[in-house]
Amino acid sequence: MKSNQKPVTAIVVGAGGRGVTYSTFALTVPERFQIVGVAEPKDYNRGWMQTRFNLPAEAVTTDWHELASRPRMADIAIITTQDAMHAEPAIAFARLGYAILLEKPMAPTEEECRRIVQAIKQAGVLFGVCHVMRYTRYTQMLKALLDSGAIGEIVTVQHLEPVGYWHQAHSFVRGNWRNSKESSFMLLAKSCHDLDWLLYILGEHCLSVSSFGALKHFKKSEKPAAAGDALRCLSCAYEPDCPYSARKIYLGRLEKGDIKWPVGVLTPEPTRESVTKALEEGPYGRCVYECDNDVVDHQVVNMLFDHDKTATFTMTAFNQANHRKTRIFGTRGELYGDGVNIEHFDFLTDQTRTISTEDPSDGSIVGGHGGGDYGLIDRFVEAVAKNDQSLILSGPDESLESHRMVFGAERARLDHVVVDL
Ligand SMILES: NC(=O)c1ccc[n+]([C@@H]2O[C@H](COP(=O)([O-])OP(=O)(O)OC[C@H]3O[C@@H](n4cnc5c(N)ncnc54)[C@H](O)[C@@H]3O)[C@@H](O)[C@H]2O)c1
Repeated sequence: MKSNQKPVTAIVVGAGGRGVTYSTFALTVPERFQIVGVAEPKDYNRGWMQTRFNLPAEAVTTDWHELASRPRMADIAIITTQDAMHAEPAIAFARLGYAILLEKPMAPTEEECRRIVQAIKQAGVLFGVCHVMRYTRYTQMLKALLDSGAIGEIVTVQHLEPVGYWHQAHSFVRGNWRNSKESSFMLLAKSCHDLDWLLYILGEHCLSVSSFGALKHFKKSEKPAAAGDALRCLSCAYEPDCPYSARKIYLGRLEKGDIKWPVGVLTPEPTRESVTKALEEGPYGRCVYECDNDVVDHQVVNMLFDHDKTATFTMTAFNQANHRKTRIFGTRGELYGDGVNIEHFDFLTDQTRTISTEDPSDGSIVGGHGGGDYGLIDRFVEAVAKNDQSLILSGPDESLESHRMVFGAERARLDHVVVDL
């Protein structure tokens, strides 16, 4: 389709894993979307962006403050720095008039989330939080089914997030999100997507939350005796019997030719030598029972929604990493979704039908997170082109509301109370 409209432009603030993911979308639709600048301290990441997007030297900086000290140079600021470094750039670039696409979580505290929303509203700019789960084909088909009345009125929902044993070890024991003081607590880092998704699916305000959870396994007291004093997998006698072995997780994947995430997180150019060095010296080679992690490895949340609706949520490390699983119980039927297929049981007919949500197209534009990554950036670009906030499914108010559920649930867990929102 030909259009006379100029492409929407963006700068990327933090060109790590997520910044690169959203930027890459520009390569598939250059007539609609272009990356025109980047702020990134790491030489490799910055250089990759400069080369890939053919950026002039003056559009490439090592720190976001420098871009924020200049007049606006693009339509969108994509903010993909780490969790604790979201609020300040989001506020600064909103004040300059950029539309803000902000990675989740909005910020590690409710106060910062509120400040972001206030700045967005004052600046009158478009805003979206990267709640990619809202934008998948699966979610859109599930939501359409619910909105069509397929199961009558939703009464209660049971939602499971199977994080996966190795994913937990990679990100939440050894990796960036292991320690709540350095990044954020587990429910915010990983499961803010899920509480946001439940809010979206139920379409009701959440009134109250309670929660339990703990760090049960990944701590020194659980270390198998056979592991002795070993601090790293490569020098541990117990390693061949340990499912969380870094040798198995990283070198095992490398040997099968898989150098993408999570192997690519250890070193920009994974080889047997570079990955082995990273395991000998870096954080990802550490024993999972000897890390400085404190985030929970399992947590449950109970939620009361408006109109007497309820939901339960479970996150747990102890499973095969997989899609989320959801059972939705309504007054006229029941749905079970496994992230790909939806089973619909109808009370009137006593029949079950299965609906596939797989994309029949060639999938070349689908991208990660079940199509959510490109689904999100695609809609955001369209919203900016049309100056239409309603195209963004995760705007300021709904994102603040779902973040407040998360902060409330964590307070409920820590204080052993029911928190009214
Ligand atoms: N939506 C999702 O599903 C999803 C998935 C994973 C991560 N995330 C979130 O995305 C964010 C980024 O995660 P990531 O995995 O890409 O992390 P990352 O560490 O790979 O990327 C962050 C980048 O920010 C850069 N940076 C640091 N200081 C900077 C500064 N002063 N100016 C500019 N850049 C700076 C870092 O060098 C790094 O390259 C996090 O908040 C994370 O929680 C979201």
